[in-house]
Amino acid sequence: MTYLVIGAGPAGLAAIRSLRDAGLPVEAAERNFDVGGQWLFGAQSSAVYASTHLISSKSTTAYADFPMPGEWPAYPSRIQIEQYFKDFAKRFDLYPLIRFNDGVSKLARTGGRWRATFDKGETRDFDGVVIANGHLSDPLMPEIPGAFSGTVLHAKEYKSPGIFEDKRVLISGMGNTGCDIVVDAIHRAKSVLWSVRGGNHFVPKFVGGKPADESNHRAKIVLPKWLRSRLHEPFARLLAGPPERFGLPKPEHRLYDRTPIVNSLVLLHLGQGDVSLRKPVKAFNGNSVIFEDGKRDEVDIAVFATGYRITFPFLEDLNALNWQPQFGAPQLYMNVFPPEDNGLFVAGLLEGAGVGWPGRALQTDLIAAYLKAKAAKPAAAQAFRREIERYCAAPADKDRGGHGIFVDFLQYKRDLKRAIERLS
Ligand SMILES: Cc1cc2nc3c(=O)[nH]c(=O)nc-3n(C[C@H](O)[C@H](O)[C@H](O)COP(=O)(O)OP(=O)(O)OC[C@H]3O[C@@H](n4cnc5c(N)ncnc54)[C@H](O)[C@@H]3O)c2cc1C
Ligand SMILES: NC(=O)c1ccc[n+]([C@@H]2O[C@H](COP(=O)([O-])OP(=O)(O)OC[C@H]3O[C@@H](n4cnc5c(N)ncnc54)[C@H](OP(=O)(O)O)[C@@H]3O)[C@@H](O)[C@H]2O)c1
Repeated sequence: MTYLVIGAGPAGLAAIRSLRDAGLPVEAAERNFDVGGQWLFGAQSSAVYASTHLISSKSTTAYADFPMPGEWPAYPSRIQIEQYFKDFAKRFDLYPLIRFNDGVSKLARTGGRWRATFDKGETRDFDGVVIANGHLSDPLMPEIPGAFSGTVLHAKEYKSPGIFEDKRVLISGMGNTGCDIVVDAIHRAKSVLWSVRGGNHFVPKFVGGKPADESNHRAKIVLPKWLRSRLHEPFARLLAGPPERFGLPKPEHRLYDRTPIVNSLVLLHLGQGDVSLRKPVKAFNGNSVIFEDGKRDEVDIAVFATGYRITFPFLEDLNALNWQPQFGAPQLYMNVFPPEDNGLFVAGLLEGAGVGWPGRALQTDLIAAYLKAKAAKPAAAQAFRREIERYCAAPADKDRGGHGIFVDFLQYKRDLKRAIERLS
């Protein structure tokens, strides 16, 4: 029995370690030249830009048994996080298990096993595969009619603010990426327009000088997320300021139903008039951008921070992951297990502030616990399989944000721990 892990980002590294520590033979393929996934700055898969800092604090984000150095700031920079993953892989002796500069270009079912074809041409069969290929690498660009004579790029291509020097800049999108890029642009550009569609909640990074997310993680009892939203939303609106007071759309969802914006600077700049809001872009015409309300502006650079597509380009048959075209995502039990007992597992496919890398490691500990239970505790493994099948047979939950992969971090981590206990 040999298992393959695809990807050596935060989720892939956790998977290699979980399987190896459970005594399961495992090897991994990584298309990049080193570990770290998104955090390997400049790598083909990475959407991280030079100014990136974590939005989740270091104590809530680091793997449970590998804290970040005490002298690091509460929200480390991407340079520190890139080093963190290299240190993690060294500390737990994961490097020898990973082949670098060689991705999986094809994965197909053959005789009950999975045949992987690697970029460099080799073909190997595996008994199971943990797919940890990340979901922030394939840009989602809106289709905009007309031709633009300036520079257009997706945020994935954006690396540093030098490109904005003395230019008329348009940023589209109000996710955490769009907000960071607006702040980057303000210090360089001649003018900054910000095209926004849906609303979202804003939370500050610090409250009383302490990382705002820490207290949530100390909760002994997991209150339902609707109740937590009702309790905490007024504080977020008081501390960061109601977004609509800055001219932004009022969020239509509750605080804990989506990943919030963790960026106080962008509201400050909005409030002091460094950036002007616009509706979504309707069309281009030469240097002009026409917006949905008919406004028209001359622009030199347009950056679309409009999110990412979930893709598994190597997988021959997407049905093996219970693909749901209406979400553009698979429907998986606990975001990990497809309904068919086919040896495929997905790690890291989630949206949810607060899950951090401990949450990804719990996913992969659960995969290892399930694989071991199949031989050691067959009744528990079968009961778990029935849970998977029941969940996947039910209609997909339309109310979950982020391609239907959003999870509430407190409930999710509790459920993963409980499932591991049942199988161990
Ligand atoms: C700007 C930015 C800031 C972020 N900030 C935070 C934060 O503060 N807190 C937080 O928790 N999360 C944050 N995230 C989310 C981030 O995605 C996660 O922290 C984490 O990187 C996800 O890990 P992953 O292993 O699932 O995916 P990735 O990090 O994307 O790693 C996937 C890996 O798989 C490899 N791969 C893909 N396809 C193949 C293939 N076919 N063969 C071989 N290898 C392959 C890729 O090369 C890559 O190395 C941020 C993301 C971005 C873009
Ligand atoms: N510093 C950090 O730690 C940091 C930085 C960046 C990203 N991240 C994380 O990385 C992940 C991806 O973030 P992301 O911001 O790249 O993507 P995202 O969260 O998917 O946000 C995309 C945004 O683009 C908007 N949008 C889509 N099409 C649009 C259009 N045509 N016109 C105007 N707006 C449009 C969306 O609006 P709708 O809401 O209307 O769909 C949404 O606000 C998230 O988990 C995020 O938290 C973290």
